[in-house]
Amino acid sequence: MDLLSNKWIINLLVCCFYLGVRCNSVEKKIYVHLNYKIPCVRLLNATHQIGCQSSLSGNVGVLHVLESEENLDWVLRSGPNPPYMVILEYRLFTRSIMMKLKNGSGRVAGVAVVAPNTNPAAGFSPHNTCPNENTGVYTEKYDPTMAHCNVTVWNPLGNGLSYEEFDFPIFSLKDDNETQVIRQCYYDHNHVVNGSAPQYPLCAMQLYSHMSAVTDTATCMRRNDINFSLNPDMVCDPLGDFNVWASTRPINNTAKGHKNGESVVIAAARLDSRSFFFDIAPGAESGVSGFVTLLAAAHALRNVTQEAHLNRTILYTFFQGETFDYIGSSRMVYDMEKNQFAVDLDNVHSVLEIGQVGLRPNSTLWFHSDPVSRRNNSVNEEVNELIKKLRAAATGLNVSVEEPGFSQPLPPSSFQRFLRARPIPGVVIEDHKSAFTNRFYESMYDNGEYLNISYPPNMTPEEQLEHITDTARALTEVATMVARALYAQAGGAESQLSSINADPQIVTQMLYSFLVQSNNSWIQQLMTSDYANHLTDRPANLYVGVAVQQSEPTYLVQHLLANLTGSTVNATQDNCKNQRMDPDDKDSKHLYYYFWVQGAAPPNSTERQGFCVRSTVRLSKALSPAFDLHQYTSTDYSTWTESRWKPITGRIFLVASHDLEMLTLGVGIGILLTSLLLTYFFSSKAEILFSSGREPATATY
Ligand SMILES: *[C@@H]1O[C@H](CO)[C@@H](O)[C@H](O)[C@H]1NC(C)=O
Ligand SMILES: *[C@@H]1O[C@H](CO)[C@@H](O)[C@H](O)[C@H]1NC(C)=O
Ligand SMILES: *[C@@H]1O[C@H](CO)[C@@H](O)[C@H](O)[C@H]1NC(C)=O
Ligand SMILES: *[C@@H]1O[C@H](CO)[C@@H](O)[C@H](O)[C@H]1NC(C)=O
Ligand SMILES: *[C@@H]1O[C@H](CO)[C@@H](O)[C@H](O)[C@H]1NC(C)=O
Ligand SMILES: *[C@@H]1O[C@H](CO)[C@@H](O)[C@H](O)[C@H]1NC(C)=O
Ligand SMILES: *[C@@H]1O[C@H](CO)[C@@H](O)[C@H](O)[C@H]1NC(C)=O
Ligand SMILES: *[C@@H]1O[C@H](CO)[C@@H](O)[C@H](O)[C@H]1NC(C)=O
Ligand SMILES: *[C@@H]1O[C@H](CO)[C@@H](O)[C@H](O)[C@H]1NC(C)=O
Ligand SMILES: *[C@@H]1O[C@H](CO)[C@@H](O)[C@H](O)[C@H]1NC(C)=O
Ligand SMILES: *[C@@H]1O[C@H](CO)[C@@H](O)[C@H](O)[C@H]1NC(C)=O
Ligand SMILES: *[C@@H]1O[C@H](CO)[C@@H](O)[C@H](O)[C@H]1NC(C)=O
Repeated sequence: MDLLSNKWIINLLVCCFYLGVRCNSVEKKIYVHLNYKIPCVRLLNATHQIGCQSSLSGNVGVLHVLESEENLDWVLRSGPNPPYMVILEYRLFTRSIMMKLKNGSGRVAGVAVVAPNTNPAAGFSPHNTCPNENTGVYTEKYDPTMAHCNVTVWNPLGNGLSYEEFDFPIFSLKDDNETQVIRQCYYDHNHVVNGSAPQYPLCAMQLYSHMSAVTDTATCMRRNDINFSLNPDMVCDPLGDFNVWASTRPINNTAKGHKNGESVVIAAARLDSRSFFFDIAPGAESGVSGFVTLLAAAHALRNVTQEAHLNRTILYTFFQGETFDYIGSSRMVYDMEKNQFAVDLDNVHSVLEIGQVGLRPNSTLWFHSDPVSRRNNSVNEEVNELIKKLRAAATGLNVSVEEPGFSQPLPPSSFQRFLRARPIPGVVIEDHKSAFTNRFYESMYDNGEYLNISYPPNMTPEEQLEHITDTARALTEVATMVARALYAQAGGAESQLSSINADPQIVTQMLYSFLVQSNNSWIQQLMTSDYANHLTDRPANLYVGVAVQQSEPTYLVQHLLANLTGSTVNATQDNCKNQRMDPDDKDSKHLYYYFWVQGAAPPNSTERQGFCVRSTVRLSKALSPAFDLHQYTSTDYSTWTESRWKPITGRIFLVASHDLEMLTLGVGIGILLTSLLLTYFFSSKAEILFSSGREPATATY
């Protein structure tokens, strides 16, 4: 009996295999697979789920190319063949249309948005109008008149689409041959002529992007725990990454908590951004402009801070995950409070943050400060002092500087998380007085093109890397101002200020690396060899990613900061990689971190000559404390998680009429059942039918 049932199962498997092969070859004839497709994915917080997903088997719908908003009626009401897969030009990707599609989701199988090859003229921001509304410092308790962007709506163009939930998939496609094939398929088969219904077969599209997590973070973390004990199949992961930091004077990073006699000036910028779609988040103005400026300022300060003995230490910090309720800065403040960081909050003297500084109408920069903490006299004095230093630093440069009105609260910024802990003096530098200048905040159009990064035609990538753009020149001025102000703030002599200058060459190379491509000869030289092959030929994606993995921007900034603020030391590769320095220098691993970088290949050689870089650059976790504390419904800390998903696919094919489909299915099932019955019959009667010899009873298959 054992033998017989074994045989039966094997026959069944063989049968299924043949069926499978047949299906595959049929599939190849009628399906066109989409190569370039960027999905919108599901994210969850303490109370909501946002984003998109398909059903478990993928959503299938008849293609409909939407020509105008009026044309929606076909999709939502009159069209005879629902559900529809709606193809939208970017100009129709508006809140009004998307919300109508969301409301009529019974007739909508999914949406594919065709992204333009050049930026739209009008502004577009799928983010909300008041970013990080509930996790900054302006709560009802802090000052009721300033909560909820009551005074200034920072992102008036925000339509909030990124925070909606859609129960169908939404993909982004490039405007190229592939979308041409889709359009052609639609016009050939589905186009409505004179209001009459199109005839079968119709062109259809399937989008697959099923998301494992549902409801909210608490639910998915609970399911993670259950699943983990059975198999390591997680349903969601906390958003997170690493913050990058470095100091002008080495700080013992092994000894955590308060450092007697240490006074630090924090110079901060944020590293991340997002967009509606999963992995196109160029964040040129919202992220890159600020952190490139800070990197250039740190470089400009390398020599002077090594020579002069400043009585304050400058701490450069680059925060990750700020888009999602200040993950990075809230974690650093938490670590400082819990004595888990190299310094504590008592060591923090002041904060200077570089926000969005890439678009300066009339070359004006605005120094934002917090009116509430400035009601305290000593804080107010320190803020005035810092602003005075910034103004002094700007003299002689092509930057005009101003302060917005005294009663305006801070724009969304990491500094708010420090203020939540205590009244620390600080200033946030921005290119806008009130509402953002950025018309594409947290969208895929906040890219190099928007920052005017362009090169004369016919330049090779190497020439582009070196070519100093106007944007690079403008940001260099800002970096020089920031560097001089930081130097003064750290107690440096005024006579030195004019010798501090940022380098436009470095700025232009950094902009190229983040906004055009990181895979270039310069970045390759200053990376470690294990990361160098991860460099990409496209703009960096600033989406934070999931904890705790280092994303591309974190790697890049970490190595750039090491190169720009560190020094080369004479050490073997082995000692360098293992943080093992001379015996008489055994304390150095508490103070410095060593990288063995690839370096350049000398002329006529392909062998790179690596070297050891010593710097104070460190990483610190950018994972929301809510996950360490298991407070998944926290209102103080970010609770954002990202669902897991299986490979994302999309394809188009022709469908026969519904009746024909059912007939095919029926016949298919009939054949399957017949073959199963036959197989079973032959198997059970095998001994009678094929009683040719004696099979050993232990035969294995
Ligand atoms: C949603 O759809 C229903 C009909 O299905 C309609 O009555 C209602 O007005 C729609 N709501 C919005 C906000 O469009
Ligand atoms: C801002 O808050 C104050 C006090 O709560 C209120 O009187 C005022 O109307 C609010 N302004 C706006 C624009 O909501
Ligand atoms: C979760 O996200 C939704 C959508 O943005 C928002 O309305 C809600 O306030 C958030 N919940 C918390 C606790 O932040
Ligand atoms: C797209 O079209 C261009 C010109 O029509 C052609 O050269 C190119 O090979 C096509 N690419 C693909 C992937 O079909
Ligand atoms: C559509 O209708 C117009 C006017 O009623 C007619 O001239 C035209 O030929 C029709 N087109 C087709 C393809 O039937
Ligand atoms: C750094 O701190 C560690 C742990 O407290 C200590 O063992 C080490 O000697 C310190 N090193 C320096 C250079 O201060
Ligand atoms: C820093 O000093 C080194 C040598 O001491 C010099 O080569 C380099 O040009 C200086 N850098 C800046 C930005 O002044
Ligand atoms: C730093 O030095 C200046 C004078 O150079 C002095 O006024 C100031 O109090 C010192 N600050 C600290 C923290 O020691
Ligand atoms: C820029 O300068 C022009 C003229 O100099 C002025 O009309 C305009 O209002 C200024 N714009 C801003 C944003 O300050
Ligand atoms: C930084 O990188 C450049 C190569 O681009 C190299 O020449 C220089 O020595 C590096 N400096 C440090 C401190 O790593
Ligand atoms: C580096 O160290 C090695 C051995 O310690 C020594 O032979 C060599 O001369 C040093 N190189 C430089 C540039 O100091
Ligand atoms: C590199 O090769 C060229 C020709 O092959 C030769 O003329 C030149 O001297 C070489 N340079 C070095 C540094 O070896």
